[in-house]
Amino acid sequence: QAQDAAAGEKVFTKCKVCHIAEQDQNRIGPSLNGVIGRIAGTHPNFSYSAAMIAAGKSGVKWDEPTLTTYLHAPQAMVKGTKMTFPGLKDDKDIANVIAYLKQFSK
Ligand code: HEM
Repeated sequence: QAQDAAAGEKVFTKCKVCHIAEQDQNRIGPSLNGVIGRIAGTHPNFSYSAAMIAAGKSGVKWDEPTLTTYLHAPQAMVKGTKMTFPGLKDDKDIANVIAYLKQFSK
């Protein structure tokens, strides 16, 4: 299915309460600038849950497949995450928000 970064920007309004992607700036959640390719739980200036740090140590790296699983049901993939967002139900919304995030990753 085609990914649409502009549609993804609209989906990202649900994330914006807690995250910024345009800049490397943490809020309630870690900056998502450069998140594609990041090992989970490794933004240097963010205080993650033990669960997210453990996910990264067990090899979770954010890419299309891992982000798709996480965004569908964050607490199911990373048990104990402090990201309280329940997840996105629509697969197209997930693909589009990943396309949006790609714009801010190398
Ligand atoms: C963590 C994406 C919504 C709060 C993360 C991570 C990603 C992500 C990829 C892991 C980052 C890393 O390992 O550095 C998203 C997306 C959202 C969304 C795409 C919208 C669809 C939210 C919302 C909140 C939130 C609404 C606040 C209510 C957090 C927190 C963490 C986090 C606190 C750190 C989790 C932990 O340490 O366990 N998010 N998020 N997120 N997010 Fe979100």
